[in-house]
Amino acid sequence: MIPDLGEEEAQAAAEAIRSGWVAQGPRVARFEQEFAAAVGAGHGVAVSSCTTGLHLALVLLDIRPGDEVVVPSLSFIATANAVRYVGATPVFADVELATGNLTVETVDAVRTERTRAVIAVHQGGVPFDTAALRKATDGWGIGLVEDAACAAGSTAYGAPAGTGARVAAWSFHPRKLITTGEGGMVTVDDAEAAVRLKRLREHGMNVSAADRHAAKQPVLEAYLETAFNYRMTDIQAAVGLVQLGKLAGLVAQRRQLAARYQELLADIDGLVPVRDPAYGQTNYQSFWVLLDGFRTGRDEVLTELAAKGVSARRGIMAAHLEPAYADVTPGPLPVTERITRESLILPLHHKLTHEDQDHIVGVLRSLAN
Ligand SMILES: Cc1ncc(COP(=O)(O)O)c(C=O)c1O
Repeated sequence: MIPDLGEEEAQAAAEAIRSGWVAQGPRVARFEQEFAAAVGAGHGVAVSSCTTGLHLALVLLDIRPGDEVVVPSLSFIATANAVRYVGATPVFADVELATGNLTVETVDAVRTERTRAVIAVHQGGVPFDTAALRKATDGWGIGLVEDAACAAGSTAYGAPAGTGARVAAWSFHPRKLITTGEGGMVTVDDAEAAVRLKRLREHGMNVSAADRHAAKQPVLEAYLETAFNYRMTDIQAAVGLVQLGKLAGLVAQRRQLAARYQELLADIDGLVPVRDPAYGQTNYQSFWVLLDGFRTGRDEVLTELAAKGVSARRGIMAAHLEPAYADVTPGPLPVTERITRESLILPLHHKLTHEDQDHIVGVLRSLAN
């Protein structure tokens, strides 16, 4: 992933610095409003990363030690780590092969009476079945946190992936479609939840530092609960506002390039490229290809691509295979293990040319025969 950053972002950051307001302030407030509107949510709360956003989402749901939270192992490790931040236990569920996402069935298979919530990931931008999982978790009486780190610009059931989410966390890390350097957002529809999240990201204060500084009269703040400093800066938000304006164009371009990859790869035996699920559209944040009886092994494919100047990456990681989770013994996760071992992510970014794609597919074709 190469971030699409240019002169406009540099100007916006410079303006924030010249304004003298560099910590969380008016630009963060604007970015929150515009981002929430773009993803179909009632309120946005900007935070320092998606990881800290996931942490706050679990605090909001009052998840505590002794509680279990179902997560996919097939995700960046931050998804599972957030559960440990609140002292709860992550329980790994398997995913479906086509989307790499949790389903009602895979969650149900590991659910116990201690399960208090699920964190479902829109993996690599591919939306999970929001209607099905929201309905199931409501029926079970447990929370659903949507890890939308990769999902800006993805859709489900004809609306942005965040529409209707009770709480979703987004990432603006440079590996995502739009970036603020580091940064994240939590979106909710409920106004009271937004107020609590704003307090949680800012030391538990009942009045934000920005409002306190802007007030004409002295304002004495109170600290209502033990909380965190997970704020975004106005410099980041200034960049984010410019980036948000580029989102639709970036998604359209990626979808065109992905469609071209799919066409070029169609007649190569043993390669299954990621596709839109029936209920939505991916932003193709990650264009992964599953090896399914391909003649060459995954790691050899990566080595050959690298030798020909192509920086493809291994597929999505599986947290339960990492040393940090060596103390966890999950139930069987056959699909997760298959995807993580037998998939690779092909280059897809705004500078990728048709010639680049032809070259990449040419190398893959040579490894198929
Ligand atoms: C699914 C998922 N969740 C969470 C994160 C963490 O995001 P951040 O780097 O903004 O903390 C990532 C980042 O790659 C991710 O892919």
